[in-house]
Amino acid sequence: MIWYPYEQMKHMKQPYKIVDANGVYLYTKDQKLIDSVSSWWCMIHGYKHPELTAAIKEQADHFSHVMLGGLTHEPAERLAQKLQDILPGDLNYCFFSDSGSVAVEVALKMALQYYMNRGDKKRTKVLALTHAYHGDTFKTMEVGDDEDYHFVLEAYGPKQNAINIPTEISALEKAFHQYHAELNCFIVEPLLQGAGGMRMYDISFLKRARELCDQYGVLLIFDEVATGFGRTGNRFVADLVQPDILVLGKALVGGYIGHAATVANQKVFDGFYSDDDRHALMHGPTFMGNALACSVALKSIEIFEREHYMEKIKKIEAISHRELDDFHDERIKEIRIMGGCACIEVYDPAVLEGYQEFAYKHGVFSRPFLSYLYSMVPYIITEEELVQVFSTMKAWFQQ
Ligand SMILES: Cc1ncc(COP(=O)(O)O)c(C=O)c1O
Repeated sequence: MIWYPYEQMKHMKQPYKIVDANGVYLYTKDQKLIDSVSSWWCMIHGYKHPELTAAIKEQADHFSHVMLGGLTHEPAERLAQKLQDILPGDLNYCFFSDSGSVAVEVALKMALQYYMNRGDKKRTKVLALTHAYHGDTFKTMEVGDDEDYHFVLEAYGPKQNAINIPTEISALEKAFHQYHAELNCFIVEPLLQGAGGMRMYDISFLKRARELCDQYGVLLIFDEVATGFGRTGNRFVADLVQPDILVLGKALVGGYIGHAATVANQKVFDGFYSDDDRHALMHGPTFMGNALACSVALKSIEIFEREHYMEKIKKIEAISHRELDDFHDERIKEIRIMGGCACIEVYDPAVLEGYQEFAYKHGVFSRPFLSYLYSMVPYIITEEELVQVFSTMKAWFQQ
């Protein structure tokens, strides 16, 4: 049987069984649902997009997969080149992997080894944010800060190699002052912290982080697995402040096949480029550079650019403000909106119990967690459909 994620299997509610999907809609055998969370935030073009499906089929007629160890192929080469072309500055060196968590692991390994390769073995610590979520593998759990996901780490006692600070400049300056000689990197979900509660913060924090990283020789990592490709209303937050390592996943492939990329700048790459074999990056997921994933990623980026997705996201943001800004209820703590993400935070998580079933009846698939009722809609959503998502949220409070 399937062991489902994040669920107590003993009293888990039966999941909705999807029999078809098209555009923003998921279909069960008796209901049609707007997917208001884009299948964990990745399905930006919606389901069954004819061009994306065709890209996969076309590549499958040649080969679905070959390893990148000792072999290479055109879809991987073209995707690496495309990312080099569209990413800012000298973020030019692309390491592929099969999921966001693994891509973050790779980024953290790069940062550690960057200093090891220079003979500096003291920089063992990672600076990260409170409420950070970077994945569910062990190192990503360690740098993350979310008891609800990662309480199992308590077994190891206090963290040895990660420090978590709030998104406040004073805390940032203090941490750099105190720990700079031991830090190899500072990793953030830039501007929007997703699984930690759709928390939004100001770009000034990242600008100051860039300055401090430069001052103390610490690498800056942006985990844009969730924010990349428009979610914050910026194409990449890296367009505003440039990190040394950028991690992409989820929307990279339009949500169609699990894949991710860890993209390093010249300085990081140079730290590995030497006559010493021990300076090589010793990592190689079996499915890195999967040909189907690279082909669909290329098509996804083409559509993103051609169909002016940034304008679509601006419109989603404007409608979100129009629909939610004046909405009040005493149980609501805060309403936050940024780009293609909207979040209603309530004081008491019990307030959201039963919302999923309520939304189902209203033709919306939603997955609130803890105190957060949120939307991360596919960018192709129409105004009418988006209004339906928000009307359903509001109706829950008004019944
Ligand atoms: C910011 C961030 N980093 C990493 C991950 C992990 O990605 P994956 O689930 O593909 O391993 C996620 C997943 O939600 C994420 O939001």
